[in-house]
Amino acid sequence: MKVTIFNGSPRGKKGNTHVMVKEFSKGAGQAGAEVENVFLVKKKIRPCRGCFTCWIKTPGKCIIKDDMAELIQKFGESDIVVFATPVYVDNVTGIMKNFMDRLIAGLDPHFEKDEGGECVHISRSEKQTKLVVISNCGFPEQSHFQVLELLFKRVARNMRSEVIGEIYRSGGGILREAPLILKPVISKYKKLLQTAGMEIVEKQRLSEETRLRLEKPFISDEQYIAAANERFDALLANV
Ligand SMILES: Cc1cc2nc3c(=O)[nH]c(=O)nc-3n(C[C@H](O)[C@H](O)[C@H](O)COP(=O)(O)O)c2cc1C
Repeated sequence: MKVTIFNGSPRGKKGNTHVMVKEFSKGAGQAGAEVENVFLVKKKIRPCRGCFTCWIKTPGKCIIKDDMAELIQKFGESDIVVFATPVYVDNVTGIMKNFMDRLIAGLDPHFEKDEGGECVHISRSEKQTKLVVISNCGFPEQSHFQVLELLFKRVARNMRSEVIGEIYRSGGGILREAPLILKPVISKYKKLLQTAGMEIVEKQRLSEETRLRLEKPFISDEQYIAAANERFDALLANV
């Protein structure tokens, strides 16, 4: 089984998103999957021009010469694709959005109604690639993922696919640089991410139990807010 993780954080390997992806990959690998991590920030991905050349003149092929042809191929060859992104202004990052827009080359332009009676394009791929979402955000409440939850539900419908797991981590600002006192909590969380990777590969689904455990706050909102503000005060004092 091939799992490809597209990471849309501009911070790449140094990001909090990667802390999550790394552990998830470890678990998926242990369960026997071939896992590939793609850092979109390292790829040349220009914005879609809306010319529809990929639909009409050169079906399936985008006119823009950059790294997207290689990425669309990777996408199509994967059994499971993971969209990994931090929350940026209540949405995915611009890097991730450019990537997602350019995936339309993989769709046949013809319209048809889906099972729910809504119009959709036809996929060019025979393979039923399943989707997983991994995200973290800076604020401490889970409500900051509301847009992503709806977005990926809609994206999956668009792609005639399904979301088989969503891992949302609020208060993600401490994943990379956790204070000493929180190291055991983070270490437990990392193990849980490995379990999630295993479940996705073995059962093609994230169990409700694991999802709920993954969403448990590391500390209280008040503690997180106080720590964040203290850190900003210290950084601002050093300017
Ligand atoms: C431009 C920008 C916009 C952001 N918008 C939000 C937001 O709307 N809500 C939120 O909770 N965090 C927001 N954040 C915080 C990031 O989600 C957070 O720092 C995250 O840990 C970054 O992940 P990364 O290290 O993988 O890039 C934003 C950060 C940036 C730079």
